[in-house]
Amino acid sequence: MPDQAPRAGLSAAILLAAGAGLRTGHETPKQVRTLAGKPVVAHALDALRAHPGVGPMALVVPPGSEDAMRSLLGPRAEGLTIVAGGSSRRLSVRAGLEALAGSEPGAAHVLVHDSARPLLPVAVIDRVLGALADGARCVVPVLPVVDTLVRSGGDEAGQVVDRSTLARVQTPQGFDFAALMAAHQQWTGPEEPTDDAQMLRRAGIDVALVPGDSALEKITGPGDHERMERILTAGMSTRVGMGFDVHRLVEGEDLWLCGVQIPHSHGLSGHSDADVAIHALVDAILGALAEGDIGSHFPPSDPQWKGAASDRFLAFACDRVSARGGRIDHVDVTIICEAPKIGPRRGTMRARLAEIMMLQEARISVKATTTERLGLTGRGEGIAAQAVVTLRLPDDDAEAAS
Ligand code: CTP
Ligand code: MG
Repeated sequence: MPDQAPRAGLSAAILLAAGAGLRTGHETPKQVRTLAGKPVVAHALDALRAHPGVGPMALVVPPGSEDAMRSLLGPRAEGLTIVAGGSSRRLSVRAGLEALAGSEPGAAHVLVHDSARPLLPVAVIDRVLGALADGARCVVPVLPVVDTLVRSGGDEAGQVVDRSTLARVQTPQGFDFAALMAAHQQWTGPEEPTDDAQMLRRAGIDVALVPGDSALEKITGPGDHERMERILTAGMSTRVGMGFDVHRLVEGEDLWLCGVQIPHSHGLSGHSDADVAIHALVDAILGALAEGDIGSHFPPSDPQWKGAASDRFLAFACDRVSARGGRIDHVDVTIICEAPKIGPRRGTMRARLAEIMMLQEARISVKATTTERLGLTGRGEGIAAQAVVTLRLPDDDAEAAS
């Protein structure tokens, strides 16, 4: 996980996920549905986290769902302030501001973003932070209105409205932290604002506009989620990778399999912790990426990997998938040994792999088999493992790499 310690000059961020998502017509709130392999809320969270200009972050969730959100996010929740929201978007922003002011005082700027806008381009964050750095106190990303606009009812129904002076408002909006806090404290209504910039404008602060991005479209009505899923899936090609590994079983070593330590008479020997299952899995991922094998990235000859926990190798391989713009669809690991029994620990192993890979458990299979007491595994001389990984990479990446 990236370092979450507050650093001077970084903007704070509030990620809003406290709505009920009623307009989608779906029974599950839109921010927690799975989109392209991870919860909707995790998309913008990852984008904000990965940005070097963003530091402390508050995630605002429906009251009472803090623990559920923490477990949904797993390791992504590390270093994140998760706070209960209010009955309106305005009150949710205020809850986020107060949480940040309490836990991370000192940030000069704050971004406020709707988690219902999962596709958050780096360039938009750059533009908003850039305008704040240039002295703006309230920055809003906007898109031009491209359709002809008319009045929809009343005496003027059908009459054209001049669209050249209009724009569509998106998030993340960027603010001077103190100015946004003051606007919230002073807000008297009576109407309920749908964004924060209108509150700052009411307080007499200029609103700076920067170009938004069509990718930032909000999930609002029925079908929006599915449309976004199609956009994310189009232009990706499937890659399959396989990995295989064997380590020797010896006395006096710890036994690690799938990142879980298992009490046993023997352990696996090797330069790292010799987690044969993770090694096979790492090779499968690197194979699907056509990026060599575990030995080429972490040479056994290098003393820094002596006794190293193999979860680092797995996290590295998963980071490579993300860096290439890809995502893992599924992994299937088979452990081949007579003993210990894998079945009773399968659930723990899947949960641990899910944690390291930041992948849902449903996408992780761990199986085991014996070789009927035949061969090296049958005689208990070693444990073997094989893994198959299915992942997707952007088509343009596939072309570039071929
Ligand atoms: N939001 C929030 N707290 C609220 C209401 C909304 O944090 N009390 C957040 C939503 O989670 C969303 C963003 O504000 O990320 C934009 O709101 P909207 O699209 O209206 O989402 P919902 O309120 O969840 O949806 P609906 O209005 O259809 O119920
Ligand atoms: Mg709403």
